[in-house]
Amino acid sequence: MVSSPILLDFQSSTPCLKEVVEEMSSYWMENFANPSSKGNLSGLYASASLEVLRTKIQENLNLHNKKIIFTSGATESNNLALFGFARNFQQRTGRYGNIITLSTEHKAVLEPLRQLKKEGFSITVLNPESDGLILEKNLLNALRDDTFLISIMLANNEIGVVQPIEKIFKICQKNNIKFHTDAAQCPGYLPIKNFDSLANMITLSSHKIYGPKGIGLLIMDEDIQLNPIFYGGGQEFGYRSGTLSLPLIAGFSKAIEVAIKNQERNTMQLAKLRNNLMDGLLKKNSKILINGSIINRLPHNLNLTVLDVNGSKFHKYIKYQITCSSGSACSNGEVSHVLTSMGRSLKEAESSVRLSIGLSTTAEEIENSIDVITETINKLRK
Ligand SMILES: Cc1ncc(COP(=O)(O)O)c(C=O)c1O
Repeated sequence: MVSSPILLDFQSSTPCLKEVVEEMSSYWMENFANPSSKGNLSGLYASASLEVLRTKIQENLNLHNKKIIFTSGATESNNLALFGFARNFQQRTGRYGNIITLSTEHKAVLEPLRQLKKEGFSITVLNPESDGLILEKNLLNALRDDTFLISIMLANNEIGVVQPIEKIFKICQKNNIKFHTDAAQCPGYLPIKNFDSLANMITLSSHKIYGPKGIGLLIMDEDIQLNPIFYGGGQEFGYRSGTLSLPLIAGFSKAIEVAIKNQERNTMQLAKLRNNLMDGLLKKNSKILINGSIINRLPHNLNLTVLDVNGSKFHKYIKYQITCSSGSACSNGEVSHVLTSMGRSLKEAESSVRLSIGLSTTAEEIENSIDVITETINKLRK
């Protein structure tokens, strides 16, 4: 038995790193001016600080040909990319074209696309294979003459699978289609040398990578045109009105810097713990299915289906000892659309769990989690 719950839910959110909090500190009470108030000295100073932070982020992500737009997080970045680009396309061309996505995307992509469908756009939602990955040939078959945008995430928040987005981006470039990718779960967890090469538009979120909540990025090609979704003072090149939060931006910038610097070391540490968790659970229990490709996967994600147990009892029993998720953090307790899209039955999806490991997770916590889950399975299968 363990006394306080073991935290294995780091894909929902992460705590701020100490150096992130330190970096933010001077912007709360000292350099607090509005960076848009360029008519006075403090505003000018805040504006200069903003541009220094923007450049730092561009350098750390190795961006050369991209603009970055600060948003409130990945949900807003996805909304801005999808609504902004689709509505602008419609205005420029007078046509409602086709957008392709994947059924396992985060709701922050699927829901804006559902809304765009109501506005008149055609939306194609492809299913992945049983390992969670999209097949290139299925994407090629889905292309239409009027396809103008593809949105496919880099790594899945529930099952951790990493989509072959290099190939997808090439297909887009060949067919004159713009490509958006939600990479909220990725910086610091994948060896990305050059974010420039991922897509035309890239979504990032700070609180998934040990930065503060309430800040995200939409990275986009210089020549992309978007219709704003907020109107007002015209900040962020007119694409996202609203006063920017320098403390959050400073914290996000530090989180990116540290994530990129420590990516190799952290990835090894996380993958080792994840693999021990997986191996231990598979060794001590029968009838456990791993969801999603184990090869093309984030290092800190494990998602499994426990067969022959009652799903709600399984979650009820383990939740006092392990903090984890049954689906994404934003699913409101619904059965995972990701797992059912990959072919799991409703019952299987209900008895599935996402275990996501953090930088503070210890080997002892992994051993204890294996014991807790094994004891729970044995109790339920009796
Ligand atoms: C892949 C993905 N996209 C979007 C989001 C939403 O992010 P945010 O909380 O920054 O709005 C999340 C968070 O769960 C996510 O994992």
